[in-house]
Amino acid sequence: MAENATDQTAAFLRQSAELFGDEFYSAPHGESEIMTEVSTGSLAEFEQQIKACQKCALGDTRTNFVFGVGDPQADLVCVGEAPGADEDAQGVPFVGRAGKLLDKILAAIDLNREHNVYICNVLKCRPPNNRDPLPDEVEFCEPYLLRQLELIKPKLIVALGKVAAKTLLRLESNIPLKDMRNKLHDYHGTPLVATYHPAALLRGDRFKRPTWEDFKWIRSLLKAE
Ligand code: URA
Repeated sequence: MAENATDQTAAFLRQSAELFGDEFYSAPHGESEIMTEVSTGSLAEFEQQIKACQKCALGDTRTNFVFGVGDPQADLVCVGEAPGADEDAQGVPFVGRAGKLLDKILAAIDLNREHNVYICNVLKCRPPNNRDPLPDEVEFCEPYLLRQLELIKPKLIVALGKVAAKTLLRLESNIPLKDMRNKLHDYHGTPLVATYHPAALLRGDRFKRPTWEDFKWIRSLLKAE
């Protein structure tokens, strides 16, 4: 019994550190810590249930299962395609160069991954050599994303990049991202906006302005009741 309680505490602290970094988390807007803990727990419990997943072949090649990170009560959920090498190594989404840029973009609209944003991917495991997700991988993994969304209940989803957007929206693979932008799509009942992947912004300047336009729109959508 004592060992069990210790294990549970250790698991909770590990989860808190993953979600909120080394600093102790203080609940925003005067919420009680208990309430936040309960809500965090349900997402954390779900992670515990699925983190040893072996439903597809990526279970054999991954270093870490990359569940997601951020505020379990976020209004905004950002969804990328799949973990890359840095994310696979650390078990946390968007921690490489693209992730650091994503953090800067979010900061520009007064958001960050500790408050009101949750970040995850369609696939929870890295495809070898960062290839695009295969249909069977999406089929096995997407229900995990749906459950995360059910627990978080965000106001808005942002699909980061063409692969994430066309996978979630079941669009043809040759549709350019520019044709998916500026539309309020629907993903299982939650509004979804598609914008450029931060990695595309690292490759050249031409996507920076449209991405900034998208995030200004995202900010106004989040402010609207
Ligand atoms: N690119 C993604 O789509 N997801 C990550 O987590 C990192 C890079």
